[in-house]
Amino acid sequence: MTRRSATVNVMAGAAYKAARRLVRDFGEVEQLQVSRKGVADFVTNADLSAERTLKQELGKARPDFAFLMEEDGASGPKNATERWIVDPLDGTLNFMHGIPHFAISIAYEQRGEIVAGVIYEPVRDELFWAERGIGAFLNDRRLRISARSRLQDGLFATGIPFMGRETHPRYHASLEAVGQNSTGIRRFGAASLDLAWVAAGRFDGFWEFGLKPWDMAAGIVLVKEAGGFVTDMTGRSGMLASGDILAGNDKLHAPLLALVQKALREPAV
Ligand code: IPD
Ligand code: CA
Ligand code: CA
Repeated sequence: MTRRSATVNVMAGAAYKAARRLVRDFGEVEQLQVSRKGVADFVTNADLSAERTLKQELGKARPDFAFLMEEDGASGPKNATERWIVDPLDGTLNFMHGIPHFAISIAYEQRGEIVAGVIYEPVRDELFWAERGIGAFLNDRRLRISARSRLQDGLFATGIPFMGRETHPRYHASLEAVGQNSTGIRRFGAASLDLAWVAAGRFDGFWEFGLKPWDMAAGIVLVKEAGGFVTDMTGRSGMLASGDILAGNDKLHAPLLALVQKALREPAV
């Protein structure tokens, strides 16, 4: 069994602690569905409370690190060379609707490079984690991307832009192209898990526009350490800056990227 570093243990410990409460709250949401009123506020509170627990646990263990958190923004020592990038609840809309597919995502960044990631999916008790140079794992099992090599055999995950986002036209061109050239497409609603599932070989690839750093940071190191490739839509590594991301196994990343790029150049009329 591969031993996790002390830092990954800190990340996993914080995720487990925050998840306990999140799962309790999720049980409540399922009850609240019938009344409807107040579900959104309740979920916002669950989200904030998970973030507080994560900040407390991570901050206690590594007081010199800075934070970039979805709700709380950037905080911590100004001259820190290391930081946590955290989404306390990825898949909020699923959580709010009583759909058991959500996760806590924590990335560890050192001098601008993501060196470790933990994505915890508490309903199935799946802890996805990776460390640069060590590998990617699901609980204690080593992860490897899928072996599929033809786009037509591929199952891809994606994220559909929410209401009001300006990425709709670009997105729909890419959706049509991938839809016409693959076995299937899934939209499960938690980008961190989409990436973790590419690392686990469940999906052959994933693409989305307009994500935030906390949606992707941990998943990027997972896919890479499982043997896959991750880029932005130009084929470079500007994912965190642009918000656009495309991941795939070693054989399908390039053809998937080419397909999406072509669709962006020549959107269907
Ligand atoms: C969202 C999820 C979703 C993605 C959205 C994200 P949230 O994060 O990751 O899959 O499509 O773009 O904003 O709001 O549930 O933390
Ligand atoms: Ca998110
Ligand atoms: Ca979130």
